[in-house]
Formats: sequence, structure tokens, C-alpha cells
Amino acid sequence: MRVLIIGAGNVATVLGRLIKEANHEIVQVISRNKTTAKELADELGCGYSNDFTHIDLSADLYLVAMSDAALNALPEKIQLGKKIIVHTAGAISKDILKNISLQYGVLYPLQSLRKELTEQPTMIPLLVEGNNDVTTQTLVAFAESISSNVSIITESDRFKLHVAAVVVNNFTNHLYTLAAEYCKNEKVSFELLYPLIDTAATRLKHFYPSEMQTGPAIRKDISTLDKHLRLLTAHPKLKSIYLKMTDSIMNS
Ligand SMILES: NC(=O)c1ccc[n+]([C@@H]2O[C@H](COP(=O)([O-])OP(=O)(O)OC[C@H]3O[C@@H](n4cnc5c(N)ncnc54)[C@H](OP(=O)(O)O)[C@@H]3O)[C@@H](O)[C@H]2O)c1
Repeated sequence: MRVLIIGAGNVATVLGRLIKEANHEIVQVISRNKTTAKELADELGCGYSNDFTHIDLSADLYLVAMSDAALNALPEKIQLGKKIIVHTAGAISKDILKNISLQYGVLYPLQSLRKELTEQPTMIPLLVEGNNDVTTQTLVAFAESISSNVSIITESDRFKLHVAAVVVNNFTNHLYTLAAEYCKNEKVSFELLYPLIDTAATRLKHFYPSEMQTGPAIRKDISTLDKHLRLLTAHPKLKSIYLKMTDSIMNS
């Protein structure tokens, strides 16, 4: 397929690499920032522009990987007839693209993607939705050419999975950040926690999460909880989250 990429951030870059590896032809990168547009276009071996009026209209598929807020402004910028256009957002309706083309949809990567990482997660789950059966089937075939983990999903299920994704990934990563800062300030090694982090994630593949809950809150071990709260006196942000999580575990 001839593919045009709109945006030059994390998703545009990671999916762009996969699309190129799958031997599709990337015809152009369009992004508001000329420097990042050129960087990505150079890597993918195609042309670029930061001017939407210069968009190449010869592509078969237009992949929009811009910030959620920027998607709103797209319809004024481009008209694509019946060329397929998709966005990659978890929480935005496909209908935001309906005034751009007769064929539109979503290709949502259910994974945390960062362009600076040379080693990317393998088999990125791609959740696909088209505005009609033909578009959906074309999108599935395209998605399967870059990932072996492709699902057709409704809009409402995508929105719900996006909420869950924020909890399991963004929130846990924020907890890791707070724990790493705590360890740094208290001069203990965060690295010693790596096996614990790995084990917790691995167990989820075999057991329901609540069955694997351990720690002082599930045991209702009040003296240990008190001790931890004293140790967190100098860390009010972490202490406040510790209290909320303890309450949630004790009352679940
Ligand atoms: N990263 C992930 O893990 C992930 C996973 C699944 C889905 N998504 C979704 O994929 C989409 C892109 O995310 P991302 O992580 O790739 O974001 P990103 O790295 O921040 O890149 C966003 C891109 O949008 C452009 N942009 C931002 N505001 C703009 C505006 N007002 N007008 C025009 N262009 C604008 C940026 O241009 P500049 O370079 O000029 O700022 C950049 O090219 C989002 O809808 C996000 O929800 C992300």
C-alpha cells in the first residue's frame, strides 16, 4: 500500500518503521514541525512537508498520529475523496474524520510507544475499526501486515480499553516514578525491586490480579501500615497515594 503519515511523534515513528519494514511504500510525512517531519521522512526514505496544502494525494492510506487535540482541526485542512484515513487515538471517535473521506477509521495501538527506544515491543496489539465493512477489512489486512495481534473492536469497547490501559500502564509507571524518587532520596537501590516488578507482571498472564494481591493492606496488618506511614512523613505525595491505595485494597 502507498501510505502517507501525518504527525512525526512517537506513534508516527514507531508505526512508520513497522510499515516500512513490511515493504509498504511511504510516500510522505506531513507534520507541523519541519525539523521532526524531515527527521522521520529521512529515516523512512520519503518526502516531507509542514504544509498541509502540499499533501500528496496519491497515497492509498492516510495515517494520522497527531495529538488528540490536533485531530479536531484536521477536517478544515484536508479532503481525500474516498482514500482511507485513520487516526491512532484510544479515546477519540472515528467520526472526527468523516468530513475528510468516505472511508475512515481507527488503528489504535494498545501499547506504550516511544520513538527513542530502538527495541520496540513485539507484536503491538492493533485495534481496528472502519466506518463500513469494506474499510474495516482493508484496515485489518493492512494491520495484519505490520502486526500478528490484530482485533476488530467497537468504538465503545476501545474507549473502555483506553481507560484500562491508562490505569495499568500510565498509573503504574507513575507509581514506579514515585517509588524511584523515594528510593533515591532515602539512598536505597530501586534496581533491587526489578525482580519484584517483573514477577508481578508475569503472574497476570496466569492468575486474576486480585488472587495475587499480597502486602500489609490485604493482610490488614495495621502496625506495618502505621510504620510505613511514619517512614513516608517526608514524602507527602507518595504518602497520600499510599493511603488511597491501602484504603482501596482493604475495602475491595
Ligand atoms: N505514544 C503512545 O504510547 C500511544 C499509544 C496509543 C495511541 N496513541 C495516540 O496516538 C496519537 C499520537 O500520540 P504520540 O504519542 O505519537 O504523540 P506525540 O509523540 O506527542 O506526537 C504528536 C504529534 O502531533 C503533532 N501535534 C501536536 N499538536 C499539534 C497541533 N496542534 N497541530 C498539529 N500537529 C500537532 C506533534 O507535532 P510537534 O512535533 O510539532 O509537536 C507530533 O507530530 C495520540 O492520539 C495518542 O493518543 C499514543
